[in-house]
Amino acid sequence: MAERKPLISGNWKMHMNHLEAIQFIQKLSYALDQADYKSADVSIHPPFTNLRSAQTVLDADNIPVALGAQHCHWEERGAFTGEVSPTMLAKLAVSYVIAGHSERRQLFGETDDNVNLRLKAILAAGMTPIMCCGETLDEREADQTEARITDQVDGGLAGLKRDQVGAMVIAYEPVWAIGTGRTATPADAQAGCGLIRERVAANFGANAAAGVRIQYGGSVKPVNVAELMAQPDIDGALVGGASLEVDSFSRIIRFRLQ
Ligand code: PGA
Repeated sequence: MAERKPLISGNWKMHMNHLEAIQFIQKLSYALDQADYKSADVSIHPPFTNLRSAQTVLDADNIPVALGAQHCHWEERGAFTGEVSPTMLAKLAVSYVIAGHSERRQLFGETDDNVNLRLKAILAAGMTPIMCCGETLDEREADQTEARITDQVDGGLAGLKRDQVGAMVIAYEPVWAIGTGRTATPADAQAGCGLIRERVAANFGANAAAGVRIQYGGSVKPVNVAELMAQPDIDGALVGGASLEVDSFSRIIRFRLQ
């Protein structure tokens, strides 16, 4: 089986304006070198307003960091005030789009059905989705972790083709670990990611399961990244808070080389 190259993604959430984004990217590019890019793929996911500036800097300086978005609508255009379409993102050279982050599910009412529509639209526009899933603390305490992840994976991926699933990214993000400083233990993170890969295998076959990259997200830091990434089913990290500082984000990217 070909080794899956880790993908380290920085989810900026609603942080940084476009000027701060430019500075951040320039500093990040000084902090990283060819060995870092060889050991991991890197994506950054700034707010929509920063994408154009970020793309210009990445392009002009030839920085091998992929541009990502945090969200999109599934329609190509229309009367959807406040929304941004996948084709608009693709035009800005966005490669990865996060879909179904728990904050979108909890605060903005996203469901597995509309995550599914988003995934199809992201793929149709030629980009790679990062679909997030994970249980809340209540669900975990009620022994619902497995059922929740299964529903989210089955619902989110419904109707996709095997090769599409094999080339996409799924992030396991236990909601209780996001922004709380409470990281899942490597064993818990592996259990979640392993379950996701099993569901992919059951629904889309062994090749899709071997290809799909599964990230762990939830309070990933330079101190805990290496032991998380050492788990067999963890192929990268979706990093929130620690992706906002060049020092911590670059140390996370360099987890193999530390
Ligand atoms: P965190 O966020 O690293 O700040 O916990 C992760 C995420 O929400 O993707």
